[in-house]
Amino acid sequence: MLLDTLLPLAFCPRDHVVAQLGQSLDGRIATASGHSHYVTGEPSRVHLHRLRALADAVIVGAGTVEADDPQLTVRHVEGDDPVRVVLDPRARVPAERHVFTDAGPTTWHVVAEGRDAAPGALRLGFDAADMARLPRALLDALAERGLHRVLIEGGGVTISRFIDADCIDRLHAVVAPLLIGSGRPGLALAEIETLHEARRPACRSYPMGEDRLYDLDLRASV
Ligand SMILES: NC(=O)c1ccc[n+]([C@@H]2O[C@H](COP(=O)([O-])OP(=O)(O)OC[C@H]3O[C@@H](n4cnc5c(N)ncnc54)[C@H](OP(=O)(O)O)[C@@H]3O)[C@@H](O)[C@H]2O)c1
Repeated sequence: MLLDTLLPLAFCPRDHVVAQLGQSLDGRIATASGHSHYVTGEPSRVHLHRLRALADAVIVGAGTVEADDPQLTVRHVEGDDPVRVVLDPRARVPAERHVFTDAGPTTWHVVAEGRDAAPGALRLGFDAADMARLPRALLDALAERGLHRVLIEGGGVTISRFIDADCIDRLHAVVAPLLIGSGRPGLALAEIETLHEARRPACRSYPMGEDRLYDLDLRASV
């Protein structure tokens, strides 16, 4: 039952991190130009808003804020907006983006030491030499601020780095019956030599309109 996919985030006894990615059958999340509205259907977008409503904080990468200018608020369901976190070490995201300028929830702008945050955001600085450890350090910094339930909403680069750092509990991969055929990839993880090394997480899947949701437990292998 689809409700089961929300329970770990709603009732987690400790910090919990869920990532969600909407991809085509051929594993793309956007065209080469960055167009991604919409890969998945309406029921999948409602599911995403439910996850937002359950999360204390939502993390997105610089590429997503640059390309999509998202609001990252809860609109398709009832619930509170999460705090917004933009991972942008080089501070390349334009300061005019919604997350920095609208009257919505707080936005943390995560930048490397020596870089300024956008004027409308709070600054979270990290040593550039420590970027490999950024996923764990960022989650710790959010937990110190009382933000324990975290949704990582993309894009593919950001989610991949958090998976490679073993920082994600569950991945909600929503696969749409669509062939994009080129463009931005979903996951791109550290290279492996043989399929014996591939991750085989415990998985449940559910129909979601025309799409299919794969709820992967990255803490458990089958
Ligand atoms: N279909 C979907 O579900 C979905 C969801 C979200 C986004 N999208 C689409 O996906 C595209 C963007 O995705 P993307 O994969 O190209 O980019 P992205 O993940 O949004 O952003 C990647 C960038 O964020 C920064 N970053 C992320 N994690 C980091 C880490 N651990 N350490 C240091 N820097 C980190 C880096 O910025 P620097 O390069 O500046 O160092 C990195 O290049 C857009 O076209 C958007 O429309 C689709």
